[in-house]
Amino acid sequence: MALSFLNKPKKAILNRCREDHATKMRLRYAPYYLAMEEQHGTSIRLDGRDMIMLSSNDYLGLSFHPKVIEAGRAALLKWGTSTTGARPSNGSRSYHIELEEKLAAFLGREACHVHAAGYLSCMSSIAAFAQKGDVIFADKNIHSCLWDGIRLSHAAVERFSHNNPDDLRAAVAAAPREAPKHLVVEGVYSMEGHICRLPELMQIAEQQGCFSVLDDAHGFGVLGHQGRGTTDHFGLNDKVDLICGSLSKSLASTGGYVAASRDVIEYLRTNSKQTIFSAALSPSQAAVAMTALEVMQTEPEHHERLWSNTRKYRAMLKGLGLDTWDSETPAVPIVLGSKERAYPFWKALLEKGVFTVMSIAPAVPPGKDLVRTAISAMHTDEQLEKIAEAMAYAAKKIG
Ligand SMILES: Cc1ncc(COP(=O)(O)O)c(C=O)c1O
Repeated sequence: MALSFLNKPKKAILNRCREDHATKMRLRYAPYYLAMEEQHGTSIRLDGRDMIMLSSNDYLGLSFHPKVIEAGRAALLKWGTSTTGARPSNGSRSYHIELEEKLAAFLGREACHVHAAGYLSCMSSIAAFAQKGDVIFADKNIHSCLWDGIRLSHAAVERFSHNNPDDLRAAVAAAPREAPKHLVVEGVYSMEGHICRLPELMQIAEQQGCFSVLDDAHGFGVLGHQGRGTTDHFGLNDKVDLICGSLSKSLASTGGYVAASRDVIEYLRTNSKQTIFSAALSPSQAAVAMTALEVMQTEPEHHERLWSNTRKYRAMLKGLGLDTWDSETPAVPIVLGSKERAYPFWKALLEKGVFTVMSIAPAVPPGKDLVRTAISAMHTDEQLEKIAEAMAYAAKKIG
């Protein structure tokens, strides 16, 4: 009797899992978590069929670069598989320090800290610095990890319209004058492919004394000299206080980084729970990122090929009359406007051998249901032609 009483609250949670509408829909239509049997660069094998990967963030195509693979293998043999613990308790390794120094130098910062996931890096970039009593001004379309960092911080949050300096100006003007303030934006918005209007936003942030945080997960490797990112693209390297991002996109690894002044990074190492209580970046992933960073600086052809592919791809989509939400980068959404249009479009691409990802409201604003695609330097001309045929077929399907 007593036991069944105690089981009631647990049942409510289990029922929540069993009855969840979003999960039921996902399992019914199965658009996510598809398991590939093989991958080589942008060629994948899914359900026994050869397909083209068109949604990975391997912008520079370095995940199958021979030097990068060899570096990961050598690190595995030298250092083993894992650090099996967090750095404050288990110690750092020389490869952590080397990667951090190289990233800091590349980004023109005094210091850097790397984590085992970009999600941790970006979340900690807010959670560690903002406190109750502070005000955070956040672009409405920032990534989930930044929202989580905001929630953990207990600071007040003011959302401003996506990439809209006038709206930021109004929000800042209405905030308490004395409160410490933070600005949180992304360099390149991964769903929309938009480049942040950093010069205008930073002018406001500077006037108001905001601590500025830029998540450049999708700008790193893509924008700026040798892929130094969004601040370099705009010549604003000395303006933004903190840059965070991911090693899992252009750097072809997994993990994340926070780059800033030495004081800021040492404060993070003392105060960020994500930094203190999570196992360190593994040896092979650190070596992969370090070598990819070197390749970015010694082999400009990957960056050039990324942009020539992007130009060709965007022109092709434009020719088909598809709405790309004015994407300016290799992250290119195809906006279909409703899930009833996005699903058959995505399915038609899959049927024609092109793997993409569908994103529907509430993950995107209402009316912006889309299929997200991303171009890589590794896409061949032949693959681009096949993608064009598949796009034409999918466009026809939805009328
Ligand atoms: C803007 C942005 N920030 C942070 C992350 C998190 O990076 P990671 O996947 O390396 O954890 C992502 C990942 O998609 C992202 O798009």
